[in-house]
Amino acid sequence: MLKNSNYALFANMMLGDLKNERKHLLFYLTAASTVSGPHREEYKELFEKEAAGEMQHVLQFQNVLLGLGVDLAEAEETVTNYPYIVSYDLKELLEFALAMEKEVVSNYSKRLSENLGLLDDPEKRYIEIFYEDQIKKSQEDVDNYKMILRNFR
Ligand SMILES: [Fe+2]
Repeated sequence: MLKNSNYALFANMMLGDLKNERKHLLFYLTAASTVSGPHREEYKELFEKEAAGEMQHVLQFQNVLLGLGVDLAEAEETVTNYPYIVSYDLKELLEFALAMEKEVVSNYSKRLSENLGLLDDPEKRYIEIFYEDQIKKSQEDVDNYKMILRNFR
């Protein structure tokens, strides 16, 4: 049960974020299988590692949502069906990963600067720290993909 209508607004945005994290998980998991070319082994490992990280993010978002009082059984339909690319081309996969991580950094920054005000302490403070951690991880990924894609042949 959600505390009030502001919490419901925030929870809806957060469910959108969970949907995105599930997309990340499925994307990396699929990319680890489809990636081809002479560097396949190396990137298969990277994408597998990313998928494992995204699995943790999905769990973390689910747990925070439950903590806020969201009924995940009821919300399930709103957090499924997330299109992502399935490609055999390494560069395409890396570019998609970069765009995806950039998108969440921007979404989560917005949660902090615009949306957190919907909540009261102590949840507000806790979720602030939560999103800060998510931003940190995704921004590190952004910077890493940028370096990989620099002068990419
Ligand atoms: Fe993530």
